[in-house]
Amino acid sequence: MENREHEKELLMKVLITGNLPEEVLALIQKEHEIVFHPENRPLDRNRLLAMVADREGLLCMITDRVDVALMKEASGLRMIANFGVGFDNIDVGAASDRGILVSNTPDVLTDATADLTLTLMLAVARRVLEGDRMTRAGEFRFWAPMHFLGQEVSGKTLGIIGLGRIGRAVARRAKGFHMEILYHSRRRLGSVHEKDLGVTYCELDKLLARSDFVSMHVPLTSVTHHLIGREELAMMRSSAYLINTSRGPVVDEEALLVALRDGVIAGAGLDVYEHEPDLTPGLAGLQNVLLLPHVGSATIETRTNMGLRAARNLMAGLRGERPPDCLNWGKPQ
Ligand code: DGY
Repeated sequence: MENREHEKELLMKVLITGNLPEEVLALIQKEHEIVFHPENRPLDRNRLLAMVADREGLLCMITDRVDVALMKEASGLRMIANFGVGFDNIDVGAASDRGILVSNTPDVLTDATADLTLTLMLAVARRVLEGDRMTRAGEFRFWAPMHFLGQEVSGKTLGIIGLGRIGRAVARRAKGFHMEILYHSRRRLGSVHEKDLGVTYCELDKLLARSDFVSMHVPLTSVTHHLIGREELAMMRSSAYLINTSRGPVVDEEALLVALRDGVIAGAGLDVYEHEPDLTPGLAGLQNVLLLPHVGSATIETRTNMGLRAARNLMAGLRGERPPDCLNWGKPQ
């Protein structure tokens, strides 16, 4: 009887706004009553507001805007578990003011995102997609020494902007390509760590001027918004490539379009966009940019682990425990 009382106590109402692996749903269902959005597309804003209204837990996607309006709608909300490491979609300050815990999913997507960063670097420099399109179109008619030349990646200089988990994982991979690695970050590593990782700290302007590849790994904040704009692009080499697997708005996409079109830089590999999912008009018409649909973490393994991590955070928070990846523990009033 006592146990049943306890079970009852734990049973809370949870909204899951995305289509997640069965094992993730099953885990949450052990303790809570869930409603979820079973489609592979974001939940429409009005439906989100209606569905969250009576919920105590929210497992949301990076495409959901979790703002004051939503929190007002969901007055019983206690825990927001983001399915993603980036949490610029959530007003964490507003959540803290209301005593709502917020978590994200670090670590589990580091390798997948770093792998995709290298994929973009290699693919854009070696013109992989152009080659594929040409071959499919029946235009591969001969081999010739000066035909379809790209740029070497091995031995080149990589500038990493933002040396968090993913930036460091990119650095480790780039070492395998014997690249020289420069970095610019809010916090400089200690000299022992720099040596271990084989990276050299640089001011942003120097990094931009010296790098053959510049790769973005910063979170989106008011400080990093348009971190790379017209002036920064002009500091880059005309043979250099910009890679972005972080968040679109850290790059001024209009300025990037002009730089790519006018040959200010050689090319770009993008997985994220300033006005996602929309592209700045003209971008898709350029040959020197490779465009992916925000798939940095999109592997079966990683998305499952993200789901499990988000679920564990959610369940801990609803139990009144500290979620392992809590972003505002101790901050709520
Ligand atoms: C994240 O987690 O922030 C990614 O952008 C989505 O995988």
